[in-house]
Amino acid sequence: MSRLRRGTLGRKEIIDNPVNPIRMINHWDNMDGSVERGYAGQSIFYKDYQIIEDLERIKDYARLLASVGINSLTINNVNVHYQETKLICEPYLSGIARLAEVFRNYGLKVYLSINFAAPMQLGGLETADPLDERVRKWWQNVGKEVWRTVPDLGGFLVKADSENRPGPFTYGRTHADGANMLAQAIAPFDGKVIWRCFVYNCHVDWRDRKTDRAKAAYDHFKKLDGQFDDNVVLQIKNGPMDFQIREPISPLFGALEATNQIMEFQITQEYTGQQKHICYLAPMWKECLEFDTYAKGQGTLVKDIVKGETFKNIHGGIAGVCNIGDSQCWTGSPMAAVNLYGFGRLCWNPDLSAEKIAKEWINLTFGMDETVEEAVLEILLTSRKAYEDYTVPLGIGWMVNVSHHYGPNIEGYEYSPWGTYHYADYKGIGVDRTVKNGTGYTAQYHEPNASMYENKETCPEELLLFFHHIGYDEKLKDGRTLLQYIYDVHFAGVEQVQKYVKLWRNLEGKVSNAYYEKVSNELEVQLKDAIEWQDIVNTYFYRKTGIGDEKGRKIYP
Ligand code: GCU
Repeated sequence: MSRLRRGTLGRKEIIDNPVNPIRMINHWDNMDGSVERGYAGQSIFYKDYQIIEDLERIKDYARLLASVGINSLTINNVNVHYQETKLICEPYLSGIARLAEVFRNYGLKVYLSINFAAPMQLGGLETADPLDERVRKWWQNVGKEVWRTVPDLGGFLVKADSENRPGPFTYGRTHADGANMLAQAIAPFDGKVIWRCFVYNCHVDWRDRKTDRAKAAYDHFKKLDGQFDDNVVLQIKNGPMDFQIREPISPLFGALEATNQIMEFQITQEYTGQQKHICYLAPMWKECLEFDTYAKGQGTLVKDIVKGETFKNIHGGIAGVCNIGDSQCWTGSPMAAVNLYGFGRLCWNPDLSAEKIAKEWINLTFGMDETVEEAVLEILLTSRKAYEDYTVPLGIGWMVNVSHHYGPNIEGYEYSPWGTYHYADYKGIGVDRTVKNGTGYTAQYHEPNASMYENKETCPEELLLFFHHIGYDEKLKDGRTLLQYIYDVHFAGVEQVQKYVKLWRNLEGKVSNAYYEKVSNELEVQLKDAIEWQDIVNTYFYRKTGIGDEKGRKIYP
């Protein structure tokens, strides 16, 4: 039965200001039309190394982003390849100006990702050393040129010294040297430099158990606190690794007191089902934002730090890696749109609950039918846990296929140079990140969080394997062994997806046929994949231990 809600908007005045000053979308679009980690078709901005001429779709997109409160976006990949390096000069710059105009009409500012080594590729210099006068001059001229053509460009986003991208380390300079050099070049135009903290060594030796990728961002940036110019903003991924389904909060939040900073979330579902699986991410983002860092005593929440309030920063906010493409419904899967919507709503007001946001989205997407609302709400609100259950247990991450990151491959990253290990042997699994016996990562948190993570007994169970190496026969809080827990959640995750299939079946005729069909097909894929995950993970641990499921469920030998 459908339900009508009557409002009295006529007499109501609502003033609702955004909480976060920077509410930004990052596109990882390349000029050949591909989208790095994109699961919704091709780029809406580029095709065959040209900026798209017909701006109709881009206008719709600007409106879409504005409608959820986004106020800025980068329009090219953080990995700035050869052709994209040239976006800061003609003939592309005029194209950027056309795009900026479309977004300007909806209150959005465009930013460009830049290549730190551009002075070499474009300027003919043999160096990109940020302290070299010629390099500084070159960027100053670029600033003049760029802002002459696009007077209200927001600024530059920079991925430096990360995953083989160039950066200041090559010249023995710090990231403050690099960021400030750019910041000074574009300060006259009110430009900002958004500088990513995703900096780590991706060439480590798996034999070395002391080097811990999780420690890298803090180690690089904590010591630079207070050294960045006013128009530099550090962009910090929510977790210390890389957008896994479960990670602790990055310890940089609460560690930087005199530095502008924004949070980076990943809306595109790289590690969370690639928009083939339903995985509503707002509950996870809420956990991050509500986390108490204790940086200034109890109640120093991440959401207050990122909005700039706690440390009275000049700039603050949230950025999200986008999940749209040229697919008809924007997000490849209709259900993935909830994440873009939820991202915008949380940037606007991090106090909203994930449930409220989901309800809003359901009503806006499917209408006011109560049966639809209940069913979709149940699916969305349990989907993150379900995904976690049938994939990777207790915060350990990384059991995915190498490079495309879809589907299970338990040891895919185990002997790789990426610093992404789970150390499963015949007795146990997990990374010891304690000060006492492990990598010492726990010390990057303020007390009492440091001790909470350091001790197995107080470590939140959902992150147990992120912080500790645990024996398969060790008992968890409810008395189950770790091994039995792993089996149980993998069976439970699959059951949950079976339930989604049933819940969705009841909605035939209640949602549009096109959506009904599309989501039905996707759920079929999700169920098949969930079973694959369940069986591979369970078999892996069965083979390691030789111990079967207490409840006698099917595990392939
Ligand atoms: C992940 C992702 C890359 C991306 C990188 C980044 O590692 O797999 O595609 O470039 O994050 O955030 O820079």
